[in-house]
Amino acid sequence: MHSEYSNQPELIAKLSRQLETDGFAVVNGVDSTDEHMVLASHFGNPVCDRSGAMLTRLTVKSHEEARPKSLSALHGQSAFPFHTDTAFWPLPCRVLTLRAVEGDLRRTTRVLDARTLLNGLDHRLIERSCWIVNGGMGAFYANLRDASKAGGLMRLDFGCMKPANAAARAISCELSTRTQQFKGIEIAWSAGMVLILDNWRMLHARSGPVENEGLRLLERIHLT
Ligand SMILES: [Fe+2]
Repeated sequence: MHSEYSNQPELIAKLSRQLETDGFAVVNGVDSTDEHMVLASHFGNPVCDRSGAMLTRLTVKSHEEARPKSLSALHGQSAFPFHTDTAFWPLPCRVLTLRAVEGDLRRTTRVLDARTLLNGLDHRLIERSCWIVNGGMGAFYANLRDASKAGGLMRLDFGCMKPANAAARAISCELSTRTQQFKGIEIAWSAGMVLILDNWRMLHARSGPVENEGLRLLERIHLT
């Protein structure tokens, strides 16, 4: 893929339509960090992470290597349940991009529409539920859904969210089970592949370890 995405309006338009329709889009042949950044910038403004970097390199970490209060600190090298990325931000990032760089890429990522996760639950409890969010950057209260945001915002990450009222407590156990047991759509990585995800609509999860697993390197960009 050529790095000048501005010269590929058809590709960007096609990916935008997929993002709108499916909540995610996949593109192959993004062979460098620079190309990833150029591609991502078509879908929002990159945001700095806690360390001040606009692009984060992700590896599978053990409990000991992990940043406190992160999903790696909770789950180590095991699977991650479905979650919203940056759920601990006052406003979670709008779009997330992940690029497979190199290494052992057999471990998959899964994506799940929030509507599927919530299907069949009492919508009055969903709307009334209040959660306390604490990802180590200060605690605050938040709802599971914010319909005032374009397309509706879903916020859920049991790594940093705990029920704060009776409605949240009533659905917490079922929701937690669903984030661990639902399968979603499996994304199988290959080098140079980018996943573009609507982080307000879709949750994502990391699958469990594979046999004799080697180092896996992904890149991540958060966009507003
Ligand atoms: Fe994540």
